Amino acid sequence: MSKNPEVIAAHGGQLVNRIATASEKEEFLGQAEKLPRVQLDERALSDLVMIAIGGFSPLTGFMEQADYEPVVESMRLANGLPWSIPITLSVTEEVAEPLKEGNWVRLDDPRGKLVGILELTQKYRYNKAHEVTNVYLTDESKHPGVKVVYDSGPINLAGPIWLLQRDPHPQFPKYQIDPADTRAKFQAKGWRSVVGFQTRNPIHRAHEYIQKCAIETGIDGLLLHPLVGATKNDDIPADVRMRCYEIILEKYYPKDRVILAINPAAMRYAGPREAIFHALVRKNYGCTHFIVGRDHAGVGDYYGTYDAQYIFDEFQPGELGIVPMKFEHAFYCTITQTMATSKTSPSTPEQRIHLSGTKVREMLRRGELPPPEFSRPEVAAELARAMQGQT
Ligand code: ADX
Repeated sequence: MSKNPEVIAAHGGQLVNRIATASEKEEFLGQAEKLPRVQLDERALSDLVMIAIGGFSPLTGFMEQADYEPVVESMRLANGLPWSIPITLSVTEEVAEPLKEGNWVRLDDPRGKLVGILELTQKYRYNKAHEVTNVYLTDESKHPGVKVVYDSGPINLAGPIWLLQRDPHPQFPKYQIDPADTRAKFQAKGWRSVVGFQTRNPIHRAHEYIQKCAIETGIDGLLLHPLVGATKNDDIPADVRMRCYEIILEKYYPKDRVILAINPAAMRYAGPREAIFHALVRKNYGCTHFIVGRDHAGVGDYYGTYDAQYIFDEFQPGELGIVPMKFEHAFYCTITQTMATSKTSPSTPEQRIHLSGTKVREMLRRGELPPPEFSRPEVAAELARAMQGQT
């Protein structure tokens, strides 16, 4: 393997960097006290950070209407580039009213600390029902992604942003690796191909199986990229999931093929649309390939098991610039005594061991451990420990 290969281009060609330089920061900080304020919630804050570090390249700010509408309608930005999820800063009428287009706005984090600046180029109303039926394919407010839209203000503030201050991640500073840095790491390792793995659940053996299958196909490295931004309340907390990763990597993975890093974005639960979004974000982190398994980014029964795979066919080959690696539902096959899918296993459904996340949570609550066919014992023990701490 030759050292220092080129890393894949970011989406749109250039990795965006909207982290204010020392002199920009000085200029902005000098003005910040006089500027009108908008307080970001946790999700908007994570969007701000993702834009600034280039995770959402080519976006340089919150979307104007000219991008927002074709994104909602047909998964494209105004310039035709694929993009599947609106990235918007929605506020109430009261917050929007005094703000003037063409002016700067100070962005504060949920605790009121200044974190960034928005150059307000546009304020616009948007149609929530239209957004949710296109993006989430449902208008039911019990869908957690739809609920966030319904609970948001009716006006979007748009324009370029700069990130002024950023603290190390309070829980995972060691794993806060920005796109520019994952790219540098891939290059230093000589990885020409890297597969990204999105997850919001504790690692189980089906995850491990599809990650390892991906590497076995000739991929050089794996970016394990758990999402640690806002998730719904009953998802397992990110710190527990990260500990499970540390535990499993120590014992069950080769040291030189895997990089563990956090994805600070919020979860949308938009199923197919979010799979495209997740893939583009991982392209920005430097991945050439991206794993899409069963019901990727799904919730409840809103999406078909493989809808998040089919949606990739709506784009021209090569247009997304990252290759989806599609995996069928994986399980433990009691006949071959290996992990498998229906493509490789002779088993009937009764001869397979698979558990849903809900089942696993129920077992843990009863003090039972998920079986080793489902979860590595060290991971199961960590989950049990964490669940006991909760009750
Ligand atoms: S997700 O919301 O981040 O997609 P999860 O962490 O459960 O949820 O899944 C991470 C990735 O693994 C997704 O690509 C998902 O499709 C895939 N996956 C999860 N469980 C299985 C399984 N049993 N078989 C195949 N793929 C799976």
